[in-house]
Amino acid sequence: MSKILVKTKTKTYPVFIGNKSLNQIDKFISSDSKVLILIDKNVKEKCSQLVEKIENTFSDKNILIINCTEKNKSIKTVEKICKYLSDNFYNRQSTIVSIGGGILGDLAGFVASIYMRGIKLIQIATTILSAVDSSVGGKTGVNFHNKKNLIGTFYQPEAVFINSEFFSTLHKREIISGIGELVKYALIIPDLYDFFLREIKQVLFKKEVSDKLIQTSISIKAEFIKADEKEETGLRKILNLGHTFAHGFESATNFRISHGQAVFSGIICALMVSERKCLMQGNVLKKFLKDFSFIPNNKILKQIDTNSVLNFMRSDKKNSQGEINLVLPSKDGIVINFPVEENVLIKTINSFKRMI
Ligand code: GLY
Repeated sequence: MSKILVKTKTKTYPVFIGNKSLNQIDKFISSDSKVLILIDKNVKEKCSQLVEKIENTFSDKNILIINCTEKNKSIKTVEKICKYLSDNFYNRQSTIVSIGGGILGDLAGFVASIYMRGIKLIQIATTILSAVDSSVGGKTGVNFHNKKNLIGTFYQPEAVFINSEFFSTLHKREIISGIGELVKYALIIPDLYDFFLREIKQVLFKKEVSDKLIQTSISIKAEFIKADEKEETGLRKILNLGHTFAHGFESATNFRISHGQAVFSGIICALMVSERKCLMQGNVLKKFLKDFSFIPNNKILKQIDTNSVLNFMRSDKKNSQGEINLVLPSKDGIVINFPVEENVLIKTINSFKRMI
């Protein structure tokens, strides 16, 4: 088992990685803390033994099973959970334990951050995507009127637990979703490009997710969070590479494609924009497409309405003064807040649709 400390201005907390990591969990629950376990319906069904072991760790607990779809990542579900907490007299000493992937983690984090102005939160990541990205860093939120994560908070957990045993039951769709966020790290840290390329192949073809891969991803993320917990200086925005297109793709398809799949396609579009804007040498996109050609693009995107994507991109949280700002790869590293004209975005989305 390994431990990474995530240091932020508001909190320092551990991320435990490995099959024995969950043995540490009782250290984070005080004896007077009533626990609400929120659990993804799929995880409850498919990993029942592992889940039961976790549930048995807590004495004073209730369990709420959540059907984790992007549609249910909503204010309505937040209200349902808050009502449950209130009806069962949860108080400021209480703890929410989230056992699930990115959707549940964001939802649980949001509820924990607003109920009684904030109660304790523990994240147990059960998907690759949540293990390498979303369970760490304190971004919480829900979708609103089809717009991705429009309502949310920054709220750090007490601890995060990652046990790759959960990944054995993941569908291909969820594996590809996790891969999208891993590809992001390959571009952000060029020295680790080959490492991530190799590891991503292992994940896709052998369903092997090494603890080293998780450790490396979380360590990279931890550095960005330490430097810029709430995206104030802008450094953390680098972690949003590909996400402006991705959120547009997710919303415009009514969430028929997974987040990480959309991120992978969004990264390709970001590279295409960088090439159009002459931010990098011409062969970078070509090399990337060749190196990562083993990752499939979802063909739904071929039929996507370009204007609808653009419309959703106009609501991105990184925009300012009416301009769509992108995070883009360049020859000098990743650039943030790069304003891109709408006609360039339209051309890029259309070229991407023709290419896949
Ligand atoms: N997923 C990007 C971030 O947490 O900042």
